[in-house]
Amino acid sequence: MNRRTFIKNAGVATGAVLLAASPWLSAFSESEHTKKSIARIGVIGPGSRGQFLMSFLKKNPKTDVVAVCDVYQPSIDEALKIYPQAKVYNDYRKLLEDKNVDAIVIATPLNTHFDIAIDAFDAGKHVFCEKALAMTIEDCFNMYHKHLEAGKVFFVGQQRLYDPRYIRAMEMIHAGTFGSIEAIRTFWYRNNDWRRPVPSPELERHINWRLYNEYSKGLMTELACHQIQIGTWALREIPNKVMGHGAITHWKDGREVYDNVSCIYMFDNGVKLNFDSVISNKFYGLEEQILGNLGTVEPEKGKYYFEDIEPAPGFLQLINDIENRLFDSLPFAGTSWAPETANVNKGEYIIGERPKHDGTSLNIDAFVEAVITGKQPENVAEEGYYASALCLLGHEAIVKEEIISFPEEYKLDYLNHSSKAK
Ligand SMILES: NC(=O)c1ccc[n+]([C@@H]2O[C@H](COP(=O)([O-])OP(=O)(O)OC[C@H]3O[C@@H](n4cnc5c(N)ncnc54)[C@H](O)[C@@H]3O)[C@@H](O)[C@H]2O)c1
Repeated sequence: MNRRTFIKNAGVATGAVLLAASPWLSAFSESEHTKKSIARIGVIGPGSRGQFLMSFLKKNPKTDVVAVCDVYQPSIDEALKIYPQAKVYNDYRKLLEDKNVDAIVIATPLNTHFDIAIDAFDAGKHVFCEKALAMTIEDCFNMYHKHLEAGKVFFVGQQRLYDPRYIRAMEMIHAGTFGSIEAIRTFWYRNNDWRRPVPSPELERHINWRLYNEYSKGLMTELACHQIQIGTWALREIPNKVMGHGAITHWKDGREVYDNVSCIYMFDNGVKLNFDSVISNKFYGLEEQILGNLGTVEPEKGKYYFEDIEPAPGFLQLINDIENRLFDSLPFAGTSWAPETANVNKGEYIIGERPKHDGTSLNIDAFVEAVITGKQPENVAEEGYYASALCLLGHEAIVKEEIISFPEEYKLDYLNHSSKAK
């Protein structure tokens, strides 16, 4: 989808409305002036995600991937199929010395992000870092501040920030369309072992890094950080407490990270965001359900539902009445009991069509624009920071089996953590 179609599909009359809900879209404000410019990018870690990102870079005429770096030859080989002219490096520090590189994309395993990003800012490069940012909140905090000190652009791979369904949904939420938001339920269910095939045993940890504590915090850093960010975006508030639990309940195959986690994030006004993930049942898939007293939004499905829908046609009401009378006359449940099962409410599409893709291409396009102009769009680094910090906080709560508060020393001057609110 190009930007024009996106703005049209988002259904907004003016850019101002759009920017109020999603200020990071300001990255596109100079896209006419930048028409003839080129952002020269180096991709570090062109594995599964890195190649996916390269496929979008390839479609953007304002970009050239001039260098790639990986420590695993098959990934280099795949990357060169997309950008055959790219210069190849095996050590990211060498790539950072390359004067032809304006900006880098980090798509390596989580445990390597911090060093690469810090060194990249020191080398004067702009940085797009895949989520989650780092292994600890402290490292995420230091990355964020390094970006400020360096004065370089800093994007995080939180593509929902650029997904038209989410943008439009947030605009509606912020306008009060669904009343006051009372709860957010997020879940990500899959039914697979999360393993990748390994060509030889010594590559197990390199390829299946997600499954080991040295490189990953499992479902919290891989999946939760996307969904928690939806909660903070909807409420425009950062939750200050979290509790959680995790276990390996199904895939007892030598992995170290949990395959079954739940967290409850608590906002100061008592509203809660739940995150659940199980990877041995996929029936409910994934969703962020945002529950207001007037309606519900499910942005992943691309739909919203009002609480009060049209009354059922007369004959349905009649059947209902007959059934109620029939069951009322049965002795087992008493007259006041009726099951409170979910409404049959088909809802409406947020942007008038079934969602076809997520926001990754626009996220990448926005980064390219920012690299060319050298201007950091508002709030994008802050949203990325809190998404990572909060999923790491949840992980800490799970490990310690305690209610954990957001550490004062790692708060940014942002939303309810702003100095004005203190
Ligand atoms: N935004 C999203 O929706 C999304 C989706 C998938 C993955 N990701 C993120 O992308 C990152 C990569 O995930 P993936 O699935 O592509 O992993 P992957 O294992 O497929 O790819 C990682 C690549 O990095 C290389 N690598 C490892 N250490 C390196 C080093 N020191 N220097 C250079 N290259 C190195 C590996 O050889 C591999 O080619 C992770 O942070 C992950 O969370 C984000």
